[in-house]
Amino acid sequence: MSGYPHIRPRRLRSAPWVRNLVRETVISPADFIQPLFVVEGSGIQRPIPALPGVDHLAIDRVVDVAKAAHGLGIPAIALFPVIAPELKTPDGKIALDPDGLVPRCVRAVKAAVPEIGIMCDVALDPYTDHGHDGLFVDGDVVNDATVEVLVRQALTLAEAGCDVVAPSDMMDGRIGAIRAALEQGGYVNTLILSYAVKYASVFYGPFRAAVGSASALGVKGKHTYQMDGANVIEALKEVELDVAEGADMVMVKPGMPYLDVIAAVKARVNVPVLAYQVSGEYAMLAAGAAAGAFDFLGVLRESMISFKRAGASAILTYGALQLARELPHGR
Ligand code: PBG
Repeated sequence: MSGYPHIRPRRLRSAPWVRNLVRETVISPADFIQPLFVVEGSGIQRPIPALPGVDHLAIDRVVDVAKAAHGLGIPAIALFPVIAPELKTPDGKIALDPDGLVPRCVRAVKAAVPEIGIMCDVALDPYTDHGHDGLFVDGDVVNDATVEVLVRQALTLAEAGCDVVAPSDMMDGRIGAIRAALEQGGYVNTLILSYAVKYASVFYGPFRAAVGSASALGVKGKHTYQMDGANVIEALKEVELDVAEGADMVMVKPGMPYLDVIAAVKARVNVPVLAYQVSGEYAMLAAGAAAGAFDFLGVLRESMISFKRAGASAILTYGALQLARELPHGR
């Protein structure tokens, strides 16, 4: 009595009500984090050619968008600065300015929309004239001296009111050093989201164009600190180290080409695993939709379900606002 015709899997797909009833993975706006690119000035909202549907925003516009995001049920935003080329230096020291673009933006959003979580990258690439994430000496990024600067950057962000510091630099030992400094500074509730598993990826292209960090990277790229896309065991090691050093959450990045890594990490650790649908992934979906290959929101939604099915607790996606407008609120 087993098998067809007694068992017809299609019965469970026969109507919307039963599909809704048995769906294993759901997405809602509460799963998304919206990355935003901040520029100096006021009233500016300028489309980013490399990222259709995403804009460069002055701080006042970031505040507007943060309000809209909160209204749609998106729990958090992630801020990325676009620094004027003349302010970039080899040591990226403007990253430590308490009145810099990001700290000012954090304070403005906190004042206007205190309920939304604010996440900020800890890394020097938007601020250095060479575009690397740390101090570049004799053809490579030096680890320990970079960690010292990153600690100060993280403290600057925490002081401004940033809720989540997100080291995206891939230096060794930075999570422990940042956690110790946050504790010592009294920032006991500042979360650390470690970009624990960040691969050296060509999918970051549109992001680097958007923040203007690509120009000087050269052929070597970031391969001496970002991970080799071929490695999963190494991903597990990175995650275990960062959790032991005090990371509250870990991230896998890029996302869609690395869903297997998300699943492997999820199976191994007892902290939330986040994923980043990076700029090149978003641009790919937008380009496909523009070419008529598929519906943009449909493909975006399907990609979000894939992330959650793989084990991601939340997803950074440039499409967060667009998709949240299409989804019901709450979980
Ligand atoms: C900087 C940083 C990068 C991204 C997030 N933080 C780029 C890089 O490492 O070169 C990429 C995000 C994206 O492509 O959407 N450390």
